Amino acid sequence: MAQQFDVVVIGGGPGGYVAAIRAAQLGFSTACIDATKNADGKASLGGTCLNVGCIPSKALLQSSENYHNTLHGFAEHGITAGSVKFDVAKMLARKQDIVNKNTGGITFLFRKNKVTSFLGYGSFKARVGDRYQIEIKDGDKVDLIEATHVIIATGSKVRQLPGVPVDNQLVLDNEGALAIPAVPKKLGVIGGGVIGLEMGSVWKRLGAEVTVLEAAPTFLGAADEQVAKEAFKLFTKDTGLDIHTGIKLGDIKVGKKDVSVNWTDASGAEQKNVFDKLIVAIGRVPNTDNLGAEAVGLKINERGQVEVDDECRANLPNVWAVGDVVRGPMLAHKSSEEGVAVAERIAGQHPHVDFGVIPWVIYTNPEIAWVGKTEQQLKAEGVEYKKGQFLFSANGRALALGDSKGFVKMLADAKTDRILGVHIIGAHASELITEAVVAMEFQASSEDIARIVHAHPSLSEAMHEAALGCDKRGLHS
Ligand code: FAD
Ligand code: NAI
Repeated sequence: MAQQFDVVVIGGGPGGYVAAIRAAQLGFSTACIDATKNADGKASLGGTCLNVGCIPSKALLQSSENYHNTLHGFAEHGITAGSVKFDVAKMLARKQDIVNKNTGGITFLFRKNKVTSFLGYGSFKARVGDRYQIEIKDGDKVDLIEATHVIIATGSKVRQLPGVPVDNQLVLDNEGALAIPAVPKKLGVIGGGVIGLEMGSVWKRLGAEVTVLEAAPTFLGAADEQVAKEAFKLFTKDTGLDIHTGIKLGDIKVGKKDVSVNWTDASGAEQKNVFDKLIVAIGRVPNTDNLGAEAVGLKINERGQVEVDDECRANLPNVWAVGDVVRGPMLAHKSSEEGVAVAERIAGQHPHVDFGVIPWVIYTNPEIAWVGKTEQQLKAEGVEYKKGQFLFSANGRALALGDSKGFVKMLADAKTDRILGVHIIGAHASELITEAVVAMEFQASSEDIARIVHAHPSLSEAMHEAALGCDKRGLHS
């Protein structure tokens, strides 16, 4: 007889593993099925984020930034190093070590919370009464389990360029981009979005000539226009990325040792370049093929996502889906919050995920972070707003750090003063944004932030000054 569970989670990424832990904490017998293996063929929980996404990319961003700073950044502090070398193999090994610590941590948490872990691909086999049969395949090994509730958290994979399959030798997805064994002389990046900019920065800092080809006419269209403009200036001038927007890709030929790319630039001129490696980062598509959706009548929408309502309910009773495989931003923290909320809903609780207050961070140098509405969104919606802005170049801590690029911008409702959006480009923006997230979650006004004592000297004083600026009472600007 098939092993029985209250809750089965398919996918062990930040959506799935967190949902499984929370379900187990709530007293449900819980299993989590995940297909990712490490080099030893053992389960490597944590999904894209821990294995080939958030965590390894930040490890390489830090290593490459340390190298870059040692070479260029510390001179103004009076520190120069005679000869600075780096070892890509060691950087990659360090990255893998960090990944292993994180994925091993999830295995530990599963044991601690009594979540049963299955290695393999999970798919719906049948619906039997009020229960679902799930088949788990790992090579020739096939298991069958049954559950009352199923949470789908199968995540996403790279959107491939038609006719140019990823081989992770010359044409790379995120996995390949995080494992290039030696710095390529010329690196092409298709897509100037989050992955393109983060991975492009890593390899540029280590010495590659990096060309980013972006189809959209505007750079970083989802970000606040003023932030995007500043980012474009800094990424091209300081980081040295060669970014082309408004391009149209032409023929791409994958040779034995290189990839030649033709494109039409924004002015209509034909361009060509030959790259040693090509990263494809044109967005990601949900993992819903091979899920056995048709066996039970699970609805997949035209974008390939599991169709869910605001509370992550799919079209079948007791079937839920969270994270990259459903609508909304493809972010680890959004996946996890949905996972927790679903486990709590199964337990009859009434959790809420506030989709209007999800922070975005891009871990470039400078970092970019925002929450809430951009200025262009507020204008398009006809919302009257006021704005406070503060430059890090007037912040003592940023100057002491030697990292004073960028600014904090706060947008607040003109009548009620409620904070509608906060946009940061600058050092440690990833950490600073949390103050704005908390404030917005509590529906704070700019006046609330203006009246809070911020430590001196700290980068957070820029947030304080931006809040004061909303009422035109900035003290240092
Ligand atoms: P995933 O993490 O994709 O996990 C899904 C898991 O399910 C995978 O292990 C997959 O192998 C498994 N699976 C799929 N199908 C099956 C099946 N049928 N049976 C069993 N298992 C299956 N987000 C951030 O918030 N911050 C960042 O800094 C960040 N950096 C990123 C950097 C890169 C290079 C990439 C690619 C992504 C990054 N992301 C980041 C996005 C983040 O990784 C995703 O939003 C997040 O991983 C989604 O979580 P998930 O649980 O929905 O899916
Ligand atoms: P993305 O959506 O951020 O960027 C893709 C870019 O490719 C877009 O700017 C798009 O206009 C462009 N594009 C699409 N088709 C193209 C074509 N044919 N030619 C040239 N350009 C083309 O997607 P990306 O970078 O692949 O990342 C996927 C997702 O992963 C992100 O949206 C984000 O949700 C997540 N992520 C988050 C990170 C973070 O939080 N720091 C880091 C990395 C990824």
